[in-house]
Amino acid sequence: MFINIEPLYSSMVENIKERVSKLSKPPKLVAVTCQPDSSTLAYLRSQEKQAKRFGIDFAVYEAPKAMDLKILLPKLSADGSVNGIFLTHPLPSDISEYEAVSLISPDKDIEGRHPINLGNILYDKPVFPPCTAEAVLRIINYLTNPSGKKIAVIGRSVTVGKPLAMLLLQKGVDATVTVCHSRTKDIAEITKNSDIVVVAIGKAKMFGKDYFKPGTIVIDVGINVEGDEIVGDVDPSVSEICELTPVPGGVGRITTLVLMEHTVKAAEMSLK
Ligand SMILES: NC(=O)c1ccc[n+]([C@@H]2O[C@H](COP(=O)([O-])OP(=O)(O)OC[C@H]3O[C@@H](n4cnc5c(N)ncnc54)[C@H](OP(=O)(O)O)[C@@H]3O)[C@@H](O)[C@H]2O)c1
Repeated sequence: MFINIEPLYSSMVENIKERVSKLSKPPKLVAVTCQPDSSTLAYLRSQEKQAKRFGIDFAVYEAPKAMDLKILLPKLSADGSVNGIFLTHPLPSDISEYEAVSLISPDKDIEGRHPINLGNILYDKPVFPPCTAEAVLRIINYLTNPSGKKIAVIGRSVTVGKPLAMLLLQKGVDATVTVCHSRTKDIAEITKNSDIVVVAIGKAKMFGKDYFKPGTIVIDVGINVEGDEIVGDVDPSVSEICELTPVPGGVGRITTLVLMEHTVKAAEMSLK
């Protein structure tokens, strides 16, 4: 069956609204973009809609060239009226992701990409973990107690697979984690021996029923465009034997809320 994340979604919405109402002024979220393509522009419009829904001020700054990011990001980081900064991707080839995210102040890095925010996870002290990794952890915690469970994470990116594995390994979460990637041999043997499988590889419908034992919780992170459809990394037929998050409308919906929640958290932290 498909997992119904609606109760989790609604409780997060209520929590964000309540926290915003307790602030003396609206939090401010700033998006920074450099040479955006049409999908980046669509993403920005959708984030603006979400921010407005929660009474969060939203502004977009466009850097014409990668060099301009080197001025803009430190300037916004030093601006006391700005609570959260997110940088759209992909970036032009003349600046690396590492260099660009390192220019954002860690306490405004609501996407959790700065090396300090990623490092905090290793110390079991996450402040702003990457939003998608946190969204997956929220969904798992909502469905079950991960302690002692065997969890396979498929994909080892900096923003999803690796930080998620570290979040699941934290003391108090206590999962036993196996991380797989494109060079892993016999992934099906690992996934069939897991209680929970998270798939984040960016390959449309690649994981079919033959990868899972019945009853497995399967979290599909993938967002792939197939014709005029958005599909996940897991074939929807897996829902016939497993509990599967839907795509669209699963991890992506919670990820958007985590970004808003991080903005509110950054505003709360700025008052302390
Ligand atoms: N729902 C959301 O909110 C959300 C947010 C972010 C991303 N996404 C989606 O999640 C997917 C993954 O995103 P990402 O940023 O993590 O992607 P990424 O940076 O491209 O990383 C993909 C990872 O998957 C591994 N991989 C690729 N093919 C594989 C295969 N056949 N078997 C096993 N592992 C394989 C790669 O292994 P190597 O390291 O060996 O190359 C890599 O570690 C994409 O569809 C993306 O659009 C969704």
